[in-house]
Amino acid sequence: MDSSEFRKNAYAVVDWIADYMDRVEDFPVRAQTAPGAIRAQLPTTAPEAGQGFDALMADFERIILPGVTHWQHPRFFAYFPANVTPPSMLAEMLVNAMGVNGMMWETSPAATELEEQMMAWLGGMLKLPAEWSGVIQDTASSATFCAVLMARERATGWQVNETGLSEAPPLAFYTSSEAHSALEKAVKMAGLGRAAIRFVPTDVNHAMQPTALAAMMAEDRDKGIIPAMVLATVGSTSVGASDPLDAIGIIARANGALFHVDAAWAGSAMICPEYRHLLDGIETADSFVFNPHKWMGVQFDCSAHFVRDPESLIRTLTILPAFLKTRDGITNYRDWGIALGRRMRALKLWFVIRSYGVEGLRTMFRNHVAWAGDLAQAVRATDGFELVTGPNLSLISFRYRPARLSDAEVDILSDRLLNAVNDDGYTYLTRTQVQGRPVIRIQVGAVQTTRDHVLAAWAHVVEIARGLTLN
Ligand SMILES: Cc1ncc(COP(=O)(O)O)c(C=O)c1O
Repeated sequence: MDSSEFRKNAYAVVDWIADYMDRVEDFPVRAQTAPGAIRAQLPTTAPEAGQGFDALMADFERIILPGVTHWQHPRFFAYFPANVTPPSMLAEMLVNAMGVNGMMWETSPAATELEEQMMAWLGGMLKLPAEWSGVIQDTASSATFCAVLMARERATGWQVNETGLSEAPPLAFYTSSEAHSALEKAVKMAGLGRAAIRFVPTDVNHAMQPTALAAMMAEDRDKGIIPAMVLATVGSTSVGASDPLDAIGIIARANGALFHVDAAWAGSAMICPEYRHLLDGIETADSFVFNPHKWMGVQFDCSAHFVRDPESLIRTLTILPAFLKTRDGITNYRDWGIALGRRMRALKLWFVIRSYGVEGLRTMFRNHVAWAGDLAQAVRATDGFELVTGPNLSLISFRYRPARLSDAEVDILSDRLLNAVNDDGYTYLTRTQVQGRPVIRIQVGAVQTTRDHVLAAWAHVVEIARGLTLN
């Protein structure tokens, strides 16, 4: 494809994208395909001869599109958002064209310096300690893995990196049962074993209990186990619960443990002064992650990871073969994360923040939170429904509880309702558990969502529920 063919095809793709933005609401939210149906339409081997772009686009529409779940749909209320905005897309087009690998300052100085400055902007927007440094990781899971490795090395005097785990003392990692499973994965990947994780009990608001944390750490220390890290969550995945950072941070520090805070979803909304209290005590943390790629409209992947002491992170992860040696005194982000090669992720942050302004982004978060409040009101006001949690920012959970049913029957009905709603395609919700019982979760967060979408989706859920029976 030469540049003139590219130009023609690219215009067609841009037209397709703009039309998609206008008609995304017409698709079922969750793909309605059966497992294997998409793959069955694809040839079993790669073509020997090149094919024209028109054929590619036709097959994209015919085969791929029906198998896509539309995360940008205004009635997407499942999981957390993975928002795309037009300025973010445009930045990604430019990045794609340049194909930059920002593994070191020298391999693209603009990639590194823009990333440094965008992390400084985000730190200012969230009112994080000014002396912290930041890096864009691909995901919160990677940031958490880096924090676990940093904690492991700090707790063992950087010895595991040298001699492995066989001579390392036992380490413990603390979090609550509300925390994202990324910690468990990270601890397993770090070779420390799932048994190293302690799940601290939570209170009625699903927040970690600091006194229980302190007691568990003391018990471990008595047994010769080193408290290596505490992970607190702001805006948990299941119900949006937030741990008290100030109390937890003091305890983590007193026990010499690294303190990592995961605000993957909720962090973006912390640019609004009225929600920022959820980050009170963040200054006691050593490591903090949130995902602009969830709620801020900076598309996947873009995970903002801040550290108090970048030298600890670099010392944990640095590797310096001869072919990577360059000048001193500059930031080489390859030493701040797991991968060597790195996409230029800061451009989309720059485009999005400048296009909307911080105030424009605040308006989006405030709307979503307000509409989740309206939704909570609607749930409370609807006969036979129970609001179980929230709203926590823009996240609620509920169950369908018609009169005279036992808890077991209510649980069966909740599961049935979720499956019926998602199979229907009008809207898309997620299942979770609260105190061991199934509930349905709704988060309001897609860029194109309006209050009408939220209330229309709720009316549809109620209508489907009324048609359900237990048998
Ligand atoms: C609180 C929290 N932490 C971590 C993650 C993992 O995020 P990522 O997909 O960026 O690894 C999620 C995902 O939803 C989350 O909600």
